[in-house]
Amino acid sequence: MDNILLMLPGPTTVAPRVLKAISDSIVNHRSAIFGEIFTETTKLMSEVFQTKNQSYLLTGSGTASMEAAIANVLNPKDKILNVVGGKFGQRFMQIANAMGGNTQELAIKWGDAVSPEQVKEVLDKDEDIKAITVVHNETSTGVTAPIEEIGKVMKNYDALYIVDAISSVGGDRVEVDKYGIDICITGSQKCLAAPPGMAAITLTDDAWKVIDKVDSKAYYLDMKKYRKTGAGTPPETPYTPSVSMIYGLAEALKIIKEEGLENRVIRHEKAAKTVKNAVKSLNLELFPKEEISSSTVTAVKMPEGVTDSDFRGTMRNKYKVELAGGQDHLKGNIFRIGHMGNISYKELAITFSAMEMTLKGLGLDIEMGASLAAVNESYL
Ligand SMILES: Cc1ncc(COP(=O)(O)O)c(C=O)c1O
Repeated sequence: MDNILLMLPGPTTVAPRVLKAISDSIVNHRSAIFGEIFTETTKLMSEVFQTKNQSYLLTGSGTASMEAAIANVLNPKDKILNVVGGKFGQRFMQIANAMGGNTQELAIKWGDAVSPEQVKEVLDKDEDIKAITVVHNETSTGVTAPIEEIGKVMKNYDALYIVDAISSVGGDRVEVDKYGIDICITGSQKCLAAPPGMAAITLTDDAWKVIDKVDSKAYYLDMKKYRKTGAGTPPETPYTPSVSMIYGLAEALKIIKEEGLENRVIRHEKAAKTVKNAVKSLNLELFPKEEISSSTVTAVKMPEGVTDSDFRGTMRNKYKVELAGGQDHLKGNIFRIGHMGNISYKELAITFSAMEMTLKGLGLDIEMGASLAAVNESYL
């Protein structure tokens, strides 16, 4: 297989230790030995969510946890406020619509961030809103939402506060208890740097109170079943979980603990700052304003006269560095550099070296070495 450097907002490169862990022998998922692994993994997951509450592992990608977050708390026609400033905010609303919810869209221009005041304004006008969804790190636009400040607003309302932190948990600050988040979700293949295939969800007592009253149509993702089997001896999941991916997730979470969550966040912030400086040194333009730009993925406007297929195609095929493109109407207009998971100096030096050669090769007037100097400056 080509040894491609993944500079993607997921999936991210997985440490050899994690790959070794997933190759371990399969055990019975209804056994004491698996119960121990499962308990340890959920505990580590709660530590990374920074919550005292139980976390639950779902076999499925991040979208499974989005669906679990909505399907369990919404009766048909219940009002839900969806903050939509990109692809994933939109997905939350699509899921809520699919569940028969009465969705209220708080539309944010793609590339901008929602403000706590905007949320407050809507909630003040409509006391029937039962829940609100916010995407912390809108991976499609590279924008971070102020979830701590929105949390302060949410303390004054009964509505449940649901946060998609799929591309931020383990890379940016997501302090679930401190921010007052009722339901927080994440996925394995982003900042946690585990293989794709697992999702996690954590819920407060307030969320459970709602769940216990809702006549949910969820079956595979019925959280009441996860609560029941998770509390058994040994703790289990209702259906067969991906045993191997749980081994991998457990190892990835141990790595996070060893690094230290705060150190890891600081490492991501440094990578993000470096990427932004390097991008600007090549006279490329950031898509969102720098103040709201993500710590885990940077969206950059495609330079004039350069096509996505030429740019990302050359990066990938000639230099073996894979970047992400834009989604929906941003396709071809932006590219995205993922710097989540295990990214540090080496990966950034290779990426910008390749980017300079690619852009030069495509006829842009690039000052060779400028972005490498920005990277070196950061890590000197
Ligand atoms: C913020 C966010 N939410 C949800 C998802 C969906 O996750 P998945 O593709 O794992 O289903 C992604 C994946 O890119 C994401 O970045």
